[in-house]
Amino acid sequence: MMPRSGRARLRPLIAGNWKMNGLVKARSELRRLASYLVDFPSAACDVVICPPATLLHSFRAEITGTRLSLGAQDCHADEGGAHTGDISAAMVKDAGAKWVILGHSERRVDHGETDRVVRDKAAAAASQGLGLIVCLGESKQERDGNKTLRVIGRQLAASIPQGIQPKRLVIAYEPIWAIGSGRTPTLDQIAQVHGFLRNKLIAAMGDDGARVRLLYGGSVKPSNAAEILAVPHVNGALVGGASLKAGDFWQIIKACG
Ligand code: PGA
Repeated sequence: MMPRSGRARLRPLIAGNWKMNGLVKARSELRRLASYLVDFPSAACDVVICPPATLLHSFRAEITGTRLSLGAQDCHADEGGAHTGDISAAMVKDAGAKWVILGHSERRVDHGETDRVVRDKAAAAASQGLGLIVCLGESKQERDGNKTLRVIGRQLAASIPQGIQPKRLVIAYEPIWAIGSGRTPTLDQIAQVHGFLRNKLIAAMGDDGARVRLLYGGSVKPSNAAEILAVPHVNGALVGGASLKAGDFWQIIKACG
């Protein structure tokens, strides 16, 4: 399908960020989701599940032969060494992940991750051939102070290493105040930020910038997914709470069909 702009449609990507939720018994939820997806056309969207690192390995066995891919929620910038509690990009890949979320606001806020840290992690993940889902987003105070585009522009410029292939780069716009709050920006506000990101990417990467998928994240749920996914330059969603239940997540995925 060629939209009016003459550019090929980007296949949407729906990613579920389970955050610090899920024990081994959650495999049944994953199986249920995989069964819903059996007859869903693969061209409709890509689906990625990002469970806690403890579940990657057992989930890998479950998703073999299904439409699902696995992602991790973070990785360290170094290849290995004395970093207690951290996991490297190679470990994430070894456990079965094809994607990794980087720079989520909960990591930026809870763990003091700067744009520089996010960029170094992104470079490490890219060197392992992982796909990157890099998160950007403004605080409520920044939104109220009309600083949204300035903040997003700075994060974009500083968080992404040079030379990433467009098919391996996904950017998620996640306003911090919309995450887990049940509140979402207006569709116009989402369109404004996504249009801004698209222009910046094209300015920085040329035609490749038109091939980077832009996700919206923050209180996406079955009741608002279709209208959000229809906003120009929204090429998918990063879903937290509503990805934990296969039935809810499936309703969101179906909104791509
Ligand atoms: P939410 O989280 O869907 O629960 O708001 C989104 C995210 O943090 O990625």
